[in-house]
Amino acid sequence: MTQRARDTAVPFEALAERYDAWYDEPAGRTLFDLEVAALRPLLHEIGHPRLEVGIGTGRFAVALDVEFGVDAAFSPLTYADRRGRRVVFGSGEQLPFVAHAFRAVVLVATLCFVEDPRAIVRAARRVLRPGGRLIIAIVPRTSTWGQRYQTMGQAGNPFYRDAHFYTVDELAGLLAEEGLTIVDRRSTLFQPPSDEPYVEVAQDGAMEDAGFVAVAAVAPSTDS
Ligand SMILES: C[S@@+](CC[C@H](N)C(=O)[O-])C[C@H]1O[C@@H](n2cnc3c(N)ncnc32)[C@H](O)[C@@H]1O
Repeated sequence: MTQRARDTAVPFEALAERYDAWYDEPAGRTLFDLEVAALRPLLHEIGHPRLEVGIGTGRFAVALDVEFGVDAAFSPLTYADRRGRRVVFGSGEQLPFVAHAFRAVVLVATLCFVEDPRAIVRAARRVLRPGGRLIIAIVPRTSTWGQRYQTMGQAGNPFYRDAHFYTVDELAGLLAEEGLTIVDRRSTLFQPPSDEPYVEVAQDGAMEDAGFVAVAAVAPSTDS
């Protein structure tokens, strides 16, 4: 694993328990449900095997029926392992899998933490089967939620201190530059940030003002 990947994973290594426990709080549970509801249709009729890069403690992988995961922090992987995921300690930039292994590669709230997003997308494309889907969910930088997390980072929050948030346009540009075409988009979290989020219905499309946007992209079927 590269030193850079190890460095970006440091807070998740040290604070896995705190990170995971947040999803059992009322606010965490509501946000999790909203985000899963936005993501699920992007995996509808997509087969297996599936891989999550930055699987963390594995909650999204379980909800989205993603059986494999890789993470640059070791301790969250022990949670994902206990949740029945097949996990590998490694970096998304250098995925330890053969080419064309997966029908789907998923990144949920991970791109903002990696040092080299281009290398992550390139590596994901390599392990995708022709026609397979790369699904990336982000908190758009200009959304009220993105602004909140950046403010928390500036105030020293260990998770967001070194995060770099992207706009939907920047994500689309990155995928296009790596030869991937976006075929589907979903957005949720149009409400402003609060400690008491409420249930919303996710929408089709990628809206910069949404607090959570997921896109699905495919590589040309000529990849070999
Ligand atoms: C915000 S967490 C998301 C975890 C999980 N996807 C979720 O939503 O609960 C980001 C995860 O990405 C991992 N990570 C950061 N940089 C990475 C890299 N270069 N390669 C693989 N994983 C990385 C971190 O260790 C962390 O577990």
